[in-house]
Amino acid sequence: MARTPEHVRIFNEAMTDLTRLVTHNLLQAYDFGTISHLMDVGGGSGELMGAVAREYSNIKGTVFDLSRCADAANQNFGQLGISDRVDFVAGDFFHSVPAAADAIILKSIIHDWDDARSRIILGNCRKALPRQGRLLLVERAMPELPGADDAARSCAMSDLNMLRGPGGRERTEREYHRLLTESGFRPAAVFRAGRFNLTESLVC
Ligand SMILES: C[S@@+](CC[C@H](N)C(=O)[O-])C[C@H]1O[C@@H](n2cnc3c(N)ncnc32)[C@H](O)[C@@H]1O
Repeated sequence: MARTPEHVRIFNEAMTDLTRLVTHNLLQAYDFGTISHLMDVGGGSGELMGAVAREYSNIKGTVFDLSRCADAANQNFGQLGISDRVDFVAGDFFHSVPAAADAIILKSIIHDWDDARSRIILGNCRKALPRQGRLLLVERAMPELPGADDAARSCAMSDLNMLRGPGGRERTEREYHRLLTESGFRPAAVFRAGRFNLTESLVC
């Protein structure tokens, strides 16, 4: 995708539209007010970070993603008038995550990857957080048993989509808890946000 800038633009815009559908639910579900500096790892062009920063006027923010997202993110922050407290940092989450924030949010990242790769990303987030740090994982939860309702069908379709893409999968809440625990986190609470869950974990 990175070889074709037009594909990057289309993908980023699609993610922005999908995330916009759930930002209201996330802001209703979770109190970001006790966070000083939030880092959105794999935050794309900063749709979620922008929504949080507009709601919480004291919060500082960083979007960490591949350099191909920098221009769209910086343009977004400029338009929202938050460039003085929200920045974009380019990097590779398989290599390392910068230690800048007291809380990290990951939305629609872990479902992209298999367990081994997910543990690398979560492990790098763990290394980047202070002892009192928090990780906020935002994903859909796959039902333990396949269901026929809209939400279960949509999750199953997304599971196939992730398999077809980078080899990821949708997971049950129990599977996410296991991955988090194996990566040095203690899941502390789950907040429902529309079709997504926000799982708050503490550093072990
Ligand atoms: C499915 S999108 C999710 C974007 C955003 N979190 C959201 O929910 O709207 C996955 C994001 O991970 C980023 N990404 C993929 N590989 C990465 C890597 N190795 N290091 C950092 N970011 C990466 C992509 O550029 C993309 O923005």
